[in-house]
Amino acid sequence: MKTILTNVIINGKTQNLLIEDGLIAYIGTEKPAYDTLIDLEGKTLIPGMIDPHVHVRDLEQTDKEDWFSASQAAIAGGITMLFDMPNNKPPTVNLKNLNLKRGVARKSLVHYKFNIAVTEHNLDDVKEILDTKPEDVSALKLFLAGSSANEYVEDIDTIKQIFDISLQYGLPVIIHTEQQKCIEKYQAKIQNPSVLDHNYIRNRECANLGTELVINLAKEIGNAVYIAHTSTAEEIDIIRQNKDKARVYCEVTPHHLLLDESILKRIGNSGKVNPPIRTKADNQALWLGIADGTVDTIGTDHAPHKISEKSQAYNQAPSGFPGLETVLPLLLNEVNKGNLSMAKLVELTSTNTAKIFKIDKRGAIKPGNYADLTVIDMNKQWKIEPKKFMTKAKYSPFAEFEGIGMPVGVFINGELRMENG
Ligand code: DOR
Ligand code: ZN
Repeated sequence: MKTILTNVIINGKTQNLLIEDGLIAYIGTEKPAYDTLIDLEGKTLIPGMIDPHVHVRDLEQTDKEDWFSASQAAIAGGITMLFDMPNNKPPTVNLKNLNLKRGVARKSLVHYKFNIAVTEHNLDDVKEILDTKPEDVSALKLFLAGSSANEYVEDIDTIKQIFDISLQYGLPVIIHTEQQKCIEKYQAKIQNPSVLDHNYIRNRECANLGTELVINLAKEIGNAVYIAHTSTAEEIDIIRQNKDKARVYCEVTPHHLLLDESILKRIGNSGKVNPPIRTKADNQALWLGIADGTVDTIGTDHAPHKISEKSQAYNQAPSGFPGLETVLPLLLNEVNKGNLSMAKLVELTSTNTAKIFKIDKRGAIKPGNYADLTVIDMNKQWKIEPKKFMTKAKYSPFAEFEGIGMPVGVFINGELRMENG
């Protein structure tokens, strides 16, 4: 089966792309023999986004999200592969739970892998999983603080043991670097907190200390560490200074790039997230980190909760919000505004992610790679209307935002899965 996509912009040039048996077979201005022709009428093609940071929540929290709704949201958002985070019910901490997740993930419409939680109590279970050389495990996930019912690790010797496993099995450790003790210190200082205190309570110092700690340990041990949702200017500096001394990778989210805490007055707990939305100066530092290569990837931290839970008082409202359907529209709008090049967007959303997590034959549009592709209409205007989301979490801190440039279709292994316009 051969499908040719014609009249499509790839790397800034109008070209044709031939898909044969799910793989990219040809890119150029010629028109090799085909069975089906799809005229993309001047739209842009980028490698399908790989999102390494998604909380799917199937099995016991299907009222929040399941694999079908999450993957529908991924397709609508132009994402062709996602990694499931482990801090759900039941948590991905052993082979039994991983197998349960494997069962329900068959519903997924997009490619997926699993990040496995590492805690003080499951290191043998993690080794048991890794000894089977699983192709569907992307990374280990370590939390240094509580955030949505996860077990966290404070003990340095345990962190070192986790890094030893990471080195031995060649898997990066994705780290939520906010430190629990530090958060508790700031929590004790505020009576009757509201979401306006969230950035103070989960203080920047807590993320900075954790990021510094894990980079120093990674320097010693030599494993790869991936700092999830980097949110402060100081973290960017620490990572920048250590890029050539440790195997350290840096993820940012769209909300830490594009929002500052002043928005919380308007949107309340809908914008409650860990780590918190920070300041305009932090936004700028993250953009500089993108420009100079300190930042490697963009992950959504898609963390769906129910609106009824989010509308509780600050202390009860869970942290997190959906991100799969907003990430590419928001970033493509930045490309249109001249704040980001398309080449950089591709690096951050797929090429670097594929390299860091060793995803073979994905992350670039080239012959021999799988035809996981996102079709972009750079002229299409959008307004974020959460009621229309495919995720079950129909709210967003970006509600009512408007912009230009959005994904209108994806190919997964060469099959067209959605068309918006
Ligand atoms: O805001 C967050 N929500 N941060 C996390 O680290 C976890 C996530 C969730 O699972 O809800
Ligand atoms: Zn997360």
